[in-house]
Amino acid sequence: MKVRKAVIPAAGWGTRFLPITRAYPKELLPLITKPLIQVAVEEVVASGIEEVIIVVAEECCFIQEYFQSAPELNALLTQKGENHLAKEMCRLERLAHISYVTQVERLGLGHAVLTARDAVGDEPFAVILPDDVVDASEPALLQMMKIFHDYGSSVLGVVDVDTPDIQRYGVIRPESVKPCVHKVLALVEKPTPAAAPSQLGIVGRYILTPQIFDAIAATGPGRGGEIQLTDALSILLQSQPIYALEFCGKRFDAGNPLGWLEAQVALGLKHHEYGDALRQKLRQII
Ligand code: UTP
Repeated sequence: MKVRKAVIPAAGWGTRFLPITRAYPKELLPLITKPLIQVAVEEVVASGIEEVIIVVAEECCFIQEYFQSAPELNALLTQKGENHLAKEMCRLERLAHISYVTQVERLGLGHAVLTARDAVGDEPFAVILPDDVVDASEPALLQMMKIFHDYGSSVLGVVDVDTPDIQRYGVIRPESVKPCVHKVLALVEKPTPAAAPSQLGIVGRYILTPQIFDAIAATGPGRGGEIQLTDALSILLQSQPIYALEFCGKRFDAGNPLGWLEAQVALGLKHHEYGDALRQKLRQII
């Protein structure tokens, strides 16, 4: 079955980015000139999905505003002869069909996904977390959709994580199926390094069957009192297989300041306009 919809949870507190996240959603932090959430929507669209459901916190309206049309700005840009920018703004406004659901209580990632249940309906869907940025020649989500097409089961994006960091991830017990593809035998949310069943941590890319919604509904609060998607995946695993893909590409954890800075520098150095100048400036600084 075709994956037609993608859910982008963007209602978290973003505590690792305080104080900016007191007033401003983490998902609007910039990567060069685009906010993280636009980068995520572009990955979704480049993977062939045109319907996007963004989960927002009740009081947050910046994200909706960002994707709204801005006729006055577009007219001003055209009047000033900034045709390239005006075109880019029109492209942004037509990027995808975007709808919003509100997560009134921020009870965790699993709960955020459950909030999108009615909007998704009874069909497989993608989930992409904007603070996990992946620089890849083929979008990570598209790579995962090919695996979903082959196996017809949920697919998790995983990366090889350094041992000390493993306790920040949902971790899989893998059984290798073919290079980079694993059958998931079990999942553990944020294990200690000694208890980790592998070094393969789940990052913010998922293709999920709609049965995940019942699994989330049956999931009680887990680590940190939040309804964890990883715990719901463990329930889903009891009734259907789940696969994991070590996708090709470099992933940045832009949800914390150091990872975000790393992403800025790495992608800045590759930027067609700023790359060379940034390299020179970094040489001067270092
Ligand atoms: P994180 O685990 O990064 O949590 O969420 P967070 O609250 O955003 O950030 P920290 O850990 O406090 O710094 C992963 C994704 O899930 C969304 C976030 O917006 C982010 O895209 N999320 C998280 C929700 O939409 N709702 C929630 O209740 C929790």
